[in-house]
Amino acid sequence: MSAALTELRGLPPLVTSWEVERLKAQIAAAGRGERFILQGGDCNERFVDCNSKVIDAKLKILLMMSAVLTYGGGRPVVRIGRIAGQYAKPRSEPDETRDGVTLPAYRGDLVNRIAFTPEARRPDPQNLIRAYHRSALTLNFIRGLLAGGFGDAHHPEVWDLRWAGQSAKAAEYRAFLEQMRASVRFLDASLGRPLAELAAVDFYSSHEGLHLEYERAVSELPPFRDGWYDLSTHMPWIGERTRRLDGAHVEFFRGIRNPIGVKIGPSMEPADLLALLATLNPADEPGRLTLIVRMGAKKVHDRLPRLVDAVRAAGRVVTWVCDPMHGNTFKTADGIKTRHFDDILAELDANFAVHAATGTVLGGVHFELTGRDVTEVLGGTCGLTEADLTRDYESDVDPRLNYGQALEMAFLMAERLRR
Ligand code: PEP
Ligand code: CO
Repeated sequence: MSAALTELRGLPPLVTSWEVERLKAQIAAAGRGERFILQGGDCNERFVDCNSKVIDAKLKILLMMSAVLTYGGGRPVVRIGRIAGQYAKPRSEPDETRDGVTLPAYRGDLVNRIAFTPEARRPDPQNLIRAYHRSALTLNFIRGLLAGGFGDAHHPEVWDLRWAGQSAKAAEYRAFLEQMRASVRFLDASLGRPLAELAAVDFYSSHEGLHLEYERAVSELPPFRDGWYDLSTHMPWIGERTRRLDGAHVEFFRGIRNPIGVKIGPSMEPADLLALLATLNPADEPGRLTLIVRMGAKKVHDRLPRLVDAVRAAGRVVTWVCDPMHGNTFKTADGIKTRHFDDILAELDANFAVHAATGTVLGGVHFELTGRDVTEVLGGTCGLTEADLTRDYESDVDPRLNYGQALEMAFLMAERLRR
């Protein structure tokens, strides 16, 4: 592995400390309720999905959701993809057994491959280099698309509402989009040139910073800055399984200046959370720390208020984000991993309610989604049932909202932000 790490250390960064600091300021604003964070993408990016079709669809759905949230919710949106580096996965078991054969678990394309063969499951250090190259290709394509006006909300042809069918909601969503387009046309006419020329679309990358040797190799001490930056992504986060106060991940993240996320599950206790905040953000720098809460719809009312109260009482500065996906995963009778649209929405609603009750701010949301018509999550107006799951289930790890479900979620959130 050391040869691969040496090679990585010699390569140019994927992002700059200027961008990283700009994102930190935007996350700080979201923490105050002046912006709203939309973070989303695959559970697990795959090397085979590093192609124009997949990246284009993912960027498109995130931009559409962000347009709906900005127009409907009245707050500028901070767009952060789980993209361009989301290649490492934490696993609950180190091994996997099939028909009496036991092999190492798949840990993401950064480490090994999904195929159930000894060769595929053997960790290959060259994957670190491959992941870095694919992250660079992905970011380069995204930057090109955005520079070319891809973020422009005018083009009606990109707004496909077929998933809503003839439902009552369909007419409502169509009317929403027509009003939004009319507003953009009005602004274009008033300005005398396209709004899109003036309003550059910011887009940031994020991934779970799980593989510490990799993250360390891509960290730098930029000139004119007084600290280290992980320059493989704008916003790395610490997962629910690796957030121990005395663990290596917290130790690494303590030493970088990026805005960072920490996943917060239902077992988190107020005292442990406060200790984590004191370690990861001792100076209470706004925007530095995003708490990504993922408890499961049924646990939020019981577990979240005391955390929010403790953080507020201690006067600590954080940005609260809701991940309504990871606490709502279950297996069907056929053993397929899925989530229900209604549970996802219920967890979001519970987060909105808790913050409304304590007078704090829900600064954003975190989704697993794709721009394609997969069948991984149940429900939504498109009405996916268990019988549909086997049709287009692509994810190797967690189930994602498909195009229609993701867009519908944006409409529903815009309603809630407006209230
Ligand atoms: C994930 O975000 O894919 C993930 C594994 O989440 P968590 O750490 O919250 O379980
Ligand atoms: Co996941």
